[in-house]
Amino acid sequence: MIHDKYIDIAELADTPSGAVRIRGYVRSNRANAHVGFIDLNDGTRFSGVQVVYDLDAHPEFAAATKYPTGSSIDVAGQLVFTPDAKQPFEVRADVIELVGDCDSDFPMQKKRHSLEFLRDLPHLRVRTNTFSALFRVRNVLSMAIHEHLQSQGFMWVSTPILTGNDAEGAGETFGVTTDSDAEGGFFGKPTVLTVSGQLHVEPFALAFDRAYTFGPTFRAENSNTTTHAAEFWMVEPEMSYADLDDDMRVMESLVRHCVAAVLDRCAEEIQFFNDRIDETHTLTERLTATRDTPFRRMTYTEGVEILEKSGKDFKYPVKWGLDLKTEHERYLCEEVVRGPLFLTDYPKEIKAFYMRLNDDGKTAAACDLLVPGVGELIGGSQREERYDVLLARMNEVGISPETLSWYADLRRFGSVPHSGFGLGLERFLLYVTAIGNIRDAIPYARTPGQMAF
Ligand code: 4AD
Ligand code: MG
Repeated sequence: MIHDKYIDIAELADTPSGAVRIRGYVRSNRANAHVGFIDLNDGTRFSGVQVVYDLDAHPEFAAATKYPTGSSIDVAGQLVFTPDAKQPFEVRADVIELVGDCDSDFPMQKKRHSLEFLRDLPHLRVRTNTFSALFRVRNVLSMAIHEHLQSQGFMWVSTPILTGNDAEGAGETFGVTTDSDAEGGFFGKPTVLTVSGQLHVEPFALAFDRAYTFGPTFRAENSNTTTHAAEFWMVEPEMSYADLDDDMRVMESLVRHCVAAVLDRCAEEIQFFNDRIDETHTLTERLTATRDTPFRRMTYTEGVEILEKSGKDFKYPVKWGLDLKTEHERYLCEEVVRGPLFLTDYPKEIKAFYMRLNDDGKTAAACDLLVPGVGELIGGSQREERYDVLLARMNEVGISPETLSWYADLRRFGSVPHSGFGLGLERFLLYVTAIGNIRDAIPYARTPGQMAF
């Protein structure tokens, strides 16, 4: 019987050799007549540990040879450092107990499954190497975002998920209903799931100097792409006394800090993505360059000129005024600058009403950060702080000022220049891991036609 306190695999490297007890899942188990090897993983670390069992010394281990992939076991043994072997240490078992057997139809046997296959098994794919690495990086990335913004004086605030307005004005909201619904329904007015916390975070930035919201966001875009999800996480920092330039400095320092944190804290995971997921095996190199090199900038107008002269046969032909598609964004950052690129000063018609109108009367003080492999990672802008100009823009795009009078009021009660942006966490993960599909960057993907659990 096993009695001792158990140890995480994550702690083994710091444990003096000697008696240890670990619990985890069998990834693989092979044995000959004399000795057996179990690759054991308890989820505390990307790599598992090799458990060696000696069938000559312990005839009772005959039972252990039958413990299948996917079963959970409890092992007491001796930790032995193995400097000459592939893995730095192993556990030589004294006792192996079966905790939970695994039925033979366990869908994840030894062979590698496609990401598509695993997508229907979000409850089990988290035990694979790929998703173990991915969700570890997601955790580090999320914490690095908080950490960096906190260090820059941003206060975290949770903006609501249920809201009465469509911040982006793009009409891509999911309605929230009770049986009685809409007017006269539960909230007395039509209510939707938030598409952005920006409008709700602005009052906090104007009260606390700098604030951010970081939470789930919902968009009913019926576009079946590798970068759009119906539910995703967005971080939205917002700051007072900041113009677009200040905004881009914060975006860049945030992205570079987070990439540095992942390189530093997820070395094993990034190595895995570099070797096994990234087709060109240049992920580490790209991330190192992102960490170390200032981002390039160009205006939308310059970008359009480059695209027009590129001679490329785009699906959507380019002309000034076009809301650039992923193919154009990716061409600019992948083939022209070969790295992250800020595109600035977009035509006001293709951007949201709250973006500050530039002096040319045609463009807005807006920017997108485009990154290779993904396209748009961040969208941001300086906000229109002039009451009259904001109201004129709302009228132009057909937003009745009464519905957002509280938002416009901020421009009457001590208005200050301010700026902010939104970064999609899953797109950031796509960039940092080279995983090609947003459905694999979120625990339970919600995309058109997909609601696995
Ligand atoms: O560019 P977007 O629509 O900007 C806003 O929502 C602003 N209110 C942000 C702000 O200034 N506070 O979205 C911001 C980012 C995009 O750049 C993208 O990374 C991500 O959110 N995003 C999505 N990610 C996954 N699936 C979707 N359907 C997404 N839509 C936007
Ligand atoms: Mg955008």
